[in-house]
Amino acid sequence: SDSTKTTEERLLSICQLLETNINYYNWVGFYFANGDKKELHLGPYVGEPTDHTIIPFGKGICGQVAVSNENFVVPDVAAQDNYIACSITVKAEIVVPIFVNGKNIGQIDIDSNTPDPFTEKDERFLEFVCEKVAAII
Ligand code: SME
Repeated sequence: SDSTKTTEERLLSICQLLETNINYYNWVGFYFANGDKKELHLGPYVGEPTDHTIIPFGKGICGQVAVSNENFVVPDVAAQDNYIACSITVKAEIVVPIFVNGKNIGQIDIDSNTPDPFTEKDERFLEFVCEKVAAII
């Protein structure tokens, strides 16, 4: 039953649901801050495997969100200079932080192969998802 699922399995299920049901969500994954090391480590994800399993704070879109504590919506990844490319098919990205007791402990990261697909509805929806995630980790 559901109660036997691990946190990793639950997070993977969330990635699968999002990638399957929202056509412009093409890579969906979680990164989590690693203690005092000022690094993000890749958690469960769905999509092409990435070389970027560890991202230093400040580096790329994900690393910037680890520092800013704010959503980062990128309509066109080619226009970003502090960006880590995982796949040449990716056109846009959204990263939304996950807060536990007010602390930014990680994030959901979504890549899209569609240019400029993300709206405020995605931000509000993913904030809701991140609140649910915060409650199960
Ligand atoms: N593009 C991200 C790196 C992670 S991949 O999208 C999976 C970034 O610039 O931080």
